[in-house]
Amino acid sequence: MTIKEIADDNLQPKSFEWTDESQLMIDNTLKQYPVGRQASAVIPLLNIAQRQNSNWLPIKAIELIADTLDMPRIRVLEVATFYTMFNLIPVGKWFLQPCTTTPCWLRGSHEVMSCIKDKLGLFEDYATTSDGQFTLLEVECLGVCANAPVLQINDNVYEDLNYDLTAKLIQNLKNGERPKYGSMSNRQGSMPKDGPTSLISLKKSDGVPAWWAKKKPAAKG
Ligand code: FES
Repeated sequence: MTIKEIADDNLQPKSFEWTDESQLMIDNTLKQYPVGRQASAVIPLLNIAQRQNSNWLPIKAIELIADTLDMPRIRVLEVATFYTMFNLIPVGKWFLQPCTTTPCWLRGSHEVMSCIKDKLGLFEDYATTSDGQFTLLEVECLGVCANAPVLQINDNVYEDLNYDLTAKLIQNLKNGERPKYGSMSNRQGSMPKDGPTSLISLKKSDGVPAWWAKKKPAAKG
């Protein structure tokens, strides 16, 4: 379980204001909610604030969100502490989130974790390298189980990893490169690694599959 820490006072900025770009996104977001229900936009606003502030949320941002949405500050903080996607302390340029839930664990997430420990010396949640480049947070299922094990880095997910591929990925980032995300074994989508195993006799020229053509139309009324 991740324990959400709040940044010490010496790391907290004295103020936090919306940029013009954030304000525009907020205005557009709030239009999607009925009048009087703007508190439901708390997650989108946390996301906007975090992106504005180098991927973490200072207390001043929590307070501004509460004021913007006319809701108690503690309610905003409750949401921010519940979801692992929100950081309440500063994180590195590259935020590494390896998934270690059962499918990724069965497929070798321990190799990904070991590699992060060996190559970056990161052993616990929210540990950051001394150069401020990499932060680690072990997370639960990222919804890409078919291509396990996976590692999310900032907004992108790297799939089908092992120790060596993770090491290569970290080295690429250290070199200032932006490696292509998705499957590291070059499989398409979530297709089995040796190619498709179902609907393989179906050609485009066949039109709709026979089982679909035989389906009775749903009764009307
Ligand atoms: S278990 Fe890792 S992505 Fe689902």
